[in-house]
Amino acid sequence: DWTMAEFRKTKIAEIREQVGDGKVICGLSGGVDSAVAAVLIHEAIGDQLTCVFVDHGLMRMNEAEQVVTLFRDHYNIPLVHVNAEERFLGGLAGQTDPEKKRKFIGGAFIDLFEAEAKKIGGADFLAQGTLYPDVIESVSFTGGPSVTIKSHHNVGGLPERMNMKLVEPLRELFKDEVRELGRELGLPEIFVGRHPFPGPGLAIRIPGEVTKERCDILRKADAIYLEEIRNAGLYDAIWQAFAVLLPVKTVGVMGDSRTYDSVCGLRAVTSTDGMTADVYPFDSAFLSRVATRIINEVQGINRVVYDYTSKPPGTIEWE
Ligand code: XMP
Repeated sequence: DWTMAEFRKTKIAEIREQVGDGKVICGLSGGVDSAVAAVLIHEAIGDQLTCVFVDHGLMRMNEAEQVVTLFRDHYNIPLVHVNAEERFLGGLAGQTDPEKKRKFIGGAFIDLFEAEAKKIGGADFLAQGTLYPDVIESVSFTGGPSVTIKSHHNVGGLPERMNMKLVEPLRELFKDEVRELGRELGLPEIFVGRHPFPGPGLAIRIPGEVTKERCDILRKADAIYLEEIRNAGLYDAIWQAFAVLLPVKTVGVMGDSRTYDSVCGLRAVTSTDGMTADVYPFDSAFLSRVATRIINEVQGINRVVYDYTSKPPGTIEWE
């Protein structure tokens, strides 16, 4: 695509101009945005860039491995992989308030990232995959009072504390444009087309207390749901689809015995930028198939419900 090829050239020149011979550090989240930003910046300045992947253990099935493989083996981009699952699960223990969960994860993320930056001798610039909708959603809406709906942990905080200048080459782009740029940069389709995933990860898809056990249960249900969506050829028609694990147990029957297990919620929405969203209208045969598979294959879940809430009034994530 001509436009993206031009954008790529222009941004590469801008990044070189801004960075000079300085060092840049980039936090990878596992998502499309930070990956595209990192690959673009690497193309501009090569080994002046180091990527840090703070792995909070709240990723989807196999996702952490995919990120590490893509960067180390496919692109040969220097990558520090910090396995911090215990630190995050430890801090989340006993925590049930959505904002406190978000704030803890954001804070721990910054601490760990900062420590890694020091280990590699610091950097002059911090690279972020901030998109245009991130810029808008983090300022208050015009006219009304400033209300924080949710604390996003990928914007703000870090730069001031680390006294670093920001490199944000995607600031003018919407999600679909970032995907186009990713393709232009040769990122694999499976990565580029991937549904958005929030910084706090599965923690905000497990209302109530987050434990390793609940993360593992959710990962299995989520993987089945996504596999069925891909098999049905629906993945690309959906902005975001995911399972949530509710802190509610209900009674069921399996064979001839009673079960008492958790409820799994399924969410799927269409959207162009995540700011508004409509429910994806699956046919009932599809939902039945997914529900049956999850209940049969995932220990700990005995009931599946479908979330029929648009945004607004709902948000896409449950917390
Ligand atoms: P909500 O739930 O606010 O989500 O309707 C809108 C979009 O943003 C994603 N999301 C986040 N992304 N850090 C992120 O990078 C966050 O803290 C965060 N919270 C929500 C969400 O997945 C959806 O695509």
